[in-house]
Amino acid sequence: MNAISSRILDQHTAVRRVLPNYRSSRWTIADALKVRTDDPTTTMPVIDYNFPVMSNDVMIWDSGTLRDMHMRTVTYKGWFVLWSLAVDKIDKTNAKIYDEWHSRNDRAYIGYWYSADGVEWTWGGRLFQTSADLRPWEWSGSLVMREGSENKVDMFYTSVGAPDGNSVPAVCSGTIHADDKGVWFEGFSASTEMFKADGVYYANASEDAYFDFRDPQPFINPGDGELYTLFEGNVPGMRGQFVVGSDEMGHVPPGYAVDPGAQYGAAAIGLSRCVSNWRKGDYSRWELMPALVTALGVNDQTERPHFVFKDGLTYLFTISHHSTYTGKSTGPDGVYGFVSEKGIFGPYKPLNSSGLVLGNPSSQPYSTYSHFVDAQGYVQSFIDTIPAAGQNAESPDTYRIGGTLAPTVRLVLDGDRTFLTEVHDYAQVFAQVAWPTSLAYDVRA
Ligand code: FRU
Repeated sequence: MNAISSRILDQHTAVRRVLPNYRSSRWTIADALKVRTDDPTTTMPVIDYNFPVMSNDVMIWDSGTLRDMHMRTVTYKGWFVLWSLAVDKIDKTNAKIYDEWHSRNDRAYIGYWYSADGVEWTWGGRLFQTSADLRPWEWSGSLVMREGSENKVDMFYTSVGAPDGNSVPAVCSGTIHADDKGVWFEGFSASTEMFKADGVYYANASEDAYFDFRDPQPFINPGDGELYTLFEGNVPGMRGQFVVGSDEMGHVPPGYAVDPGAQYGAAAIGLSRCVSNWRKGDYSRWELMPALVTALGVNDQTERPHFVFKDGLTYLFTISHHSTYTGKSTGPDGVYGFVSEKGIFGPYKPLNSSGLVLGNPSSQPYSTYSHFVDAQGYVQSFIDTIPAAGQNAESPDTYRIGGTLAPTVRLVLDGDRTFLTEVHDYAQVFAQVAWPTSLAYDVRA
């Protein structure tokens, strides 16, 4: 037996141990047929063309609050903290900013903000030392206070931009510090890769040139107290050779015919379990597990997946695009979600029947993206583009670029339904846990 097949066998054994008789849940074509744009309970508020910006020096997009391993937003010594993907605004003329914004992924780095009140933010600059970069770009992940520690912080992120096209979830660690003037970080000088796309549970570059494998969101599973991570992946298999059958279709109306292009949608919400001694800060070994939810036949991207644990239910949120729906399925850019009554392994059903939780309004279809729902239902997202008045909403000639956070909104999570109920300030953060906190478990264990 060669090294690869013995590794795959090991993974299957590990998965059977944790998940006997496991099957991924599905987001079906029939579910997606129920998506309705502009329903007021599942639609982001219209953003004012004259929105305020957090900084004149940087443009930011995917962002997240400092959190704990239970998905709760924390303050550190009273300070609110956010990380963001960022690019520097070099030339501040409008024309140049358009180029800088639209090519931003090829220069993205992770920076941070701090705030005394959760509303007014100060840009703290780069989080990592350049020695931490395994590849040229830093993409999404999560900034987490280490369980049981006074001030250790771990940035789980995606290392991207190497010529081989691989994107690799990685972790870089340091410490957080604060005084009465602000917050700063130390360390963050070296990264460790977590795991790679295997082509068995998740598509890799040789199966799918457009494969996604990124955005780690680790958490302690309330069910077994172990450390797992969610991430964005794709269903394994050769691109263009999937068969969309009755499982992927769901309960479609009579006569529904699957569009042949539907099979190009092969998104998967990935799961992996940490098998190194994470209680001592060792995040080096993980075992990939089968996807929690797949969207074969529906959509090719389920990005930044993350959990909310509430009322004994497990809410699984993910962001997706209008442009990544396939076949005849369609829906807005926004955040989608699923709920399980039996813990993280599901089965999951789509929230609001369709899966749509918050989409952009049809008058501003690309207003916001990269929504992150926290444990109290507050949702941050960034402003992408806002069309000028009177422009064609889908392809405006004149639009304003965001690069800053949108108004924070709040969701009520009520069983398998969600409702937009509150709209707060731009970039507003509400915290749940004050750190340093009482230690969640004995670190000597
Ligand atoms: C979502 C996303 C993430 C990725 C980042 C790159 O907005 O596509 O999946 O990490 O943006 O900018």
